[in-house]
Amino acid sequence: MTEKYLKLAHFSDLHLAGRTARRQLGYLDELLTAIVNNGCSHIVITGDLVNSANPADWQVVKDALQKKGLYAWDKVTLIPGNHDLINLEEEIRLYNSLNPLGNGRKKRFRRKMREFCRFFSELMTGEEQDTGFPFIKVLKYSDVTLSLVLVNTVSHWMNIENPLGARGYVSPGEFKALATSQVQNAIKDSFVIGVFHHAYNIYGTDSLIDQAFDWTMELRNRRELLVAMKKLNADMLLHGHFHRFQAYTAGGIRIINGGSFNVNPRRYSEIVIGGAERGTQRFVDI
Ligand SMILES: [Fe+2]
Ligand SMILES: [Fe+2]
Repeated sequence: MTEKYLKLAHFSDLHLAGRTARRQLGYLDELLTAIVNNGCSHIVITGDLVNSANPADWQVVKDALQKKGLYAWDKVTLIPGNHDLINLEEEIRLYNSLNPLGNGRKKRFRRKMREFCRFFSELMTGEEQDTGFPFIKVLKYSDVTLSLVLVNTVSHWMNIENPLGARGYVSPGEFKALATSQVQNAIKDSFVIGVFHHAYNIYGTDSLIDQAFDWTMELRNRRELLVAMKKLNADMLLHGHFHRFQAYTAGGIRIINGGSFNVNPRRYSEIVIGGAERGTQRFVDI
């Protein structure tokens, strides 16, 4: 049977609380089962897998995927969120006690990022050696070729500029890499989806307190990222971080916020690629 359509599932922000969080793990098992039963060929998870930035908790995610036979490069793609890389309490403790100038925090962040990429390499670049962001995954199906362009938006903790570790930033090096002809050639003639953790849009509420906190979780150079994605002819962008299930448009590109599994573990975003409309999206409640 030819696959005229390709079905993709996206969810985000699991914030798993570790191996003892049996209820969450039960929900995750149910969600993965529903996604597979609904005929999705690939799953994208846009970060904040765990709450603690603890590799022991990353292992819980790995185990859950392995249990369902989904721990494979062509079945799942995931990226880290700020909660996977930054332990806020530890950063603040170190800042208060040891290192107010903070030379170590960038180093600590890079080390953690390397550790995460190595740990989940099978689901990321699929390569053994250390590689970083951005990276591209080209998945060829019989009638559809899908290119995922993965960008890191998580930035190290800073006491003033990034007080919750939740503010996003894409480094100049990533933009430079995205602009190379190598990337252009790799994704040519495919359905292109840009994937990152931080929200392009953070919808403020009328509450002044909410508005005051918006900046602490914003993606600082989101417009630059949108321009880079437009240059790559991205058909769609997927993100998480801001825990609401949303579909919106910016600069003519459809953007999907995968919401939060932690808020609603029975909902995921389904993207169908192919046909005259090229790509459609809806949220599925299981
Ligand atoms: Fe989150
Ligand atoms: Fe986040």
